[in-house]
Amino acid sequence: DKPEDLEKRAPIITVMGHVDHGKTSLLDYIRNANIVEGESGGITQHIGAYSVNVKDEKIAFLDTPGHEAFTAMRARGAQVTDLVIIVVAADDDVMPQTKEAISHAQAAGVPIIFAINKIDKPNANPDNVKTQLSSMNLLIEEWGGNIQSQDISAKTGQGIDELLEKVLLEAEVLELQANPNKNATGTVVEAQLDKGRGYVTTILVQAGTLKIGDYILAGKNSGKVKAMFDDKGKKVKAAKPSTPVSILGLDGAPQAGDKFVVFDDEREAKQIATKR
Ligand code: GTP
Ligand code: NA
Ligand code: MG
Repeated sequence: DKPEDLEKRAPIITVMGHVDHGKTSLLDYIRNANIVEGESGGITQHIGAYSVNVKDEKIAFLDTPGHEAFTAMRARGAQVTDLVIIVVAADDDVMPQTKEAISHAQAAGVPIIFAINKIDKPNANPDNVKTQLSSMNLLIEEWGGNIQSQDISAKTGQGIDELLEKVLLEAEVLELQANPNKNATGTVVEAQLDKGRGYVTTILVQAGTLKIGDYILAGKNSGKVKAMFDDKGKKVKAAKPSTPVSILGLDGAPQAGDKFVVFDDEREAKQIATKR
């Protein structure tokens, strides 16, 4: 891509952390806080990724529990995530899965933002968490380091706006860009067989623009995009970079982390799919 073809794109976030520290609660809080009245379909339409508006910017979240999905995607060579939010419960310690999440993010070279959660609880002790992080050479900004951290409650919503602003700040530094004016490429987030609709595949477009009628190859599967839905279940005709969408039309269910590409020529895509 030539520099003049590149446009700013939204950051793509994965939430990781130890069991029960509040990953799902945080993702649900952010998602629900962003559902506009009359869009209640968004709650039932739980696809594996969603995007929210913060001020005039967008942030895309991979809405997958734990770091299994992140690990599975990484194992397939998928580099989807721009930033990782690691949730640490303020009434607990830095736990084995917290450390694992830190290692995953570091191995992927992805910046970390700590969300120190459950600060509404009477026994919450965020300083204890920060002390433990600093003893692991992870010094947060508040303590003179360069790692972003925000005290939050996924229950009351306290600190979550500030957390999202820090995500945008960190994303600004990364200068995330993509060329929207070419055939789409991206990654499969999840796929399932839906009785009546056939295979429904949630994908994240990372470059280019995906359109209805495009012929795509995703992992071992291929097909023409027959219909496309946004994260609120609304029909859309095109999807730009950093946009999660569910598509209909594939001949099977590719796996999370499989890459997809668009072919100009249907026969070419079929040939490659059969060889896989
Ligand atoms: P796993 O997916 O099982 O690893 O857990 P998780 O990290 O997704 O945690 P989850 O969001 O399921 O939260 C675990 C428990 O903590 C639930 O009972 C939540 O209601 C509770 N919880 C999460 N966040 C908060 C919070 O900010 N404050 C309080 N008081 N409780 C919270
Ligand atoms: Na849980
Ligand atoms: Mg969970």
